[in-house]
Amino acid sequence: MKIEILPDPGAVASHAARWLAAAARDAVAARGRFAFAVSGGHTPWQMLGLLAAEDVPWGKVHLFQVDERVAPEGHTDRNMTHIRKSLLVLASIPAGNVHPMPVEEGDLGAAALRYERELEAVAGTPAVLDAVHLGLGPDGHTASLVPGDPALDVDGSDLAVTGTYAGRVRMTLTYPAIDRARAVLWVVTGAEKAPVLPLLMAGDRSIPAGRVRNGQALLLADRAAAANLAPLR
Ligand code: 6PG
Repeated sequence: MKIEILPDPGAVASHAARWLAAAARDAVAARGRFAFAVSGGHTPWQMLGLLAAEDVPWGKVHLFQVDERVAPEGHTDRNMTHIRKSLLVLASIPAGNVHPMPVEEGDLGAAALRYERELEAVAGTPAVLDAVHLGLGPDGHTASLVPGDPALDVDGSDLAVTGTYAGRVRMTLTYPAIDRARAVLWVVTGAEKAPVLPLLMAGDRSIPAGRVRNGQALLLADRAAAANLAPLR
């Protein structure tokens, strides 16, 4: 895994935005479309706002979600609420190319299967996303792959529905979908991530993020999150 340490969250967000824009241009040139999936939390919104201002062939972009909390449309707990506010109001992605996770449906298992079909319709079977953006939680979670959840052991499908975590049931991409992507972009900022970032870098399976096995991963961290890493040689 390649790592770049930048001075602060702003520098990380702008580097990540430039990286995603370049990945989009390259994917569209090579395959005619860019299909990427975005995590939630709070860090990504600055990155997405900056991405909206980048040179991206938006008409050929498909946006998926890495994970979503089960909450009503427009609720502040919904990652899509913030993705709309930070990116979609500024970037002209065709409406049909924005793929919100269907978390308002009564049967979430059936909804997860439907989302998997939606992914495959764009990214092939099995789905190969061009890029997956991941964050890192202070407890070592990523996506909504959280400690002790059965979703960590799902290997026969690309989507799973979790138990309740931080007050919400979630829908999430699983490890197979993440590992199969052409690239993973980790965006990790803040001192609260410093204790777990070394575990992620070591591929330590004691944390969910340490179980991601994607050979094309770039990790962008600020100095605060990287405080416990061995000095880069
Ligand atoms: C979510 C996210 C989650 C997030 C981490 C890190 O829906 O909560 O997908 O996995 O990536 O909690 O969040 P920050 O990077 O904002 O700290």
